[in-house]
Formats: sequence, structure tokens, C-alpha cells
Amino acid sequence: MINSKETFSAFSQIISPTTSAKYPSKPRIRVPNSGEPSMTLAPQTYRPTQIALHWIVVLGILFQWGMNEQMSRISKALQTGAVPEPSDVTWAWVHVGVGMIILLAVFARLFLRFRFGVPDHAKGTPKLQGNIAIVMHWALYTVLLVIVISGSITWNGIAPLGGIHANLNKVLFVLAAGHAGAALFNQFIRKDGTMRRMMFSRES
Ligand code: HEM
Ligand code: HEM
Repeated sequence: MINSKETFSAFSQIISPTTSAKYPSKPRIRVPNSGEPSMTLAPQTYRPTQIALHWIVVLGILFQWGMNEQMSRISKALQTGAVPEPSDVTWAWVHVGVGMIILLAVFARLFLRFRFGVPDHAKGTPKLQGNIAIVMHWALYTVLLVIVISGSITWNGIAPLGGIHANLNKVLFVLAAGHAGAALFNQFIRKDGTMRRMMFSRES
């Protein structure tokens, strides 16, 4: 009989097999009978799978934004009951497919976060900036998930949430621009190597 712990462990091995000193399997340290919650060791870096998924999601979002015109025309057709252009319908299916890939990648990222954790902020990050980064990362995840959910509800004709979908895309744009701006600011002005954290490194 395979229990849920084994299944969980096998799944993490499939989507991110590397476990080494650099990529610890999130060991928990518990002081017996101390009444203290268990502590976890933060990994030193993002895992290659986390890095790959980050950039897959970024590319996916850019691709979706590139389909703005076709999707706006589909949106009008949905609202007026007009027959959409066949090429727009094809692009809409591509939009749905890429949206589903983004959804799977976000789930995999959240799984890896809970399973292995994420590294502490770059050295010298002020506490306030570190807290803003945490809020920003969770806001990005939340907005992305609600975008996919509202898109799916609209596409399947359950409720017309196209307005929410479109407006949240504007929110995502502002958040992503702030997030990328902060990463570039840290890299080139504060010179703390932030960008290297989301790049594949040759060092073992
Ligand atoms: C992160 C993933 C996604 C992004 C970034 C994204 C982005 C966009 C953008 C920029 C538009 C044009 C909005 C406008 O009308 O101005 C749009 C429209 C639309 N998207 Fe997505 N989308 C995503 C996922 C999905 C998914 C998974 C579905 C369906 C399963 C979907 C269904 C739709 C529909 C039906 C419209 C037309 C909405 C309307 O009535 O206005 N989207 N999307
Ligand atoms: C729409 C696009 C983006 C989304 C949704 C996004 C989302 C995220 C999230 C949620 C994290 C936290 C780590 C994790 O959970 O894996 C993160 C980290 C990071 N992102 Fe992005 N990101 C986007 C675009 C970008 C861009 C364009 C850049 C570079 C210019 C960038 C650079 C980074 C860096 C360097 C980190 C690591 C930050 C650290 O831990 O110190 N991201 N991103």
C-alpha cells in the first residue's frame, strides 16, 4: 500500500529531483518537548525547477498580453452574441491552452514553495523592503490565479467575468512592472546580485 507521504515525496522527486547541500529537502529541526514550533532551514538558492517555472510563467503572461486584440474582439462577440472570426476563435483556444499551462506552472511553484521553501532575501535587504517583496510575491500569485479562474468562468459561459479578467490584467501589469523594477534596481543600483537568484548558475 502506498501512503500519502510516499506519494507526496515521489511527486516532489518528479518535479524537482535535485537534493543536495545547495538544495536541501527542507529539513525540519524540532527541539523535543520545547513547545516551540519546528524550525525550517531556508535553502540557499532557488531550485532550477523553480527558476525554470518562474520564466515559463513570465513568457506565458507576455504571450497572453500579446493576444489582447484578438481576445478583445472575442470579448465583444461574447457580449453582443455576434459570430466571432474563425481565426480569433483559434487564438482564443490558444489563449485558454496557454492559460492552463500558466495555471499548472503556478500550482507547481506553490507546491515547491511549500515543499522546499524559498531562500531568504538577498544579503543587506532592509526589513521593510523584504516585507514588501513578500507581499508583492503573494499578490502576484493571487492575481494570477484569479485571472485564470475569472477567464475560465467567462469562457465556459458560467458568468460574464470578462471585466474582472481584463481589469486584473491591468493590476498584474502594474505589480509585474513594480516587481521587475525592484529586481533590476537591486541588481544594478544596490548591486546585491538579486537577478542571479533567478538565473541558472553553473556553480554546484
Ligand atoms: C494568466 C493567464 C491569463 C492572462 C495573462 C490573460 C490575459 C487576457 C487579456 C489581456 C485579455 C484581454 C482583455 C480585454 O478584453 O481587454 C483576456 C481576455 C480573455 N481571456 Fe484571458 N488571460 C489568461 C488566462 C485565461 C484563461 C485560462 C481563460 C479561459 C479558460 C481565459 C479566457 C479569456 C476570455 C474568455 C477573455 C475575453 C474576456 C472578456 O469577455 O472580456 N484567459 N485575457
Ligand atoms: C509577470 C511576470 C512575473 C511574475 C508573475 C513574477 C513572479 C515572481 C514570484 C512569485 C517570485 C517569488 C519567488 C517564487 O515564488 O518563485 C519572483 C521572484 C523573482 N522574480 Fe519574478 N515575476 C515576474 C517577472 C519578473 C521579471 C520580468 C523579472 C526580472 C526583470 C523578475 C525577477 C525576479 C527575481 C530576481 C526574483 C527573485 C527575488 C528574490 O527572491 O530576491 N521577475 N517572481
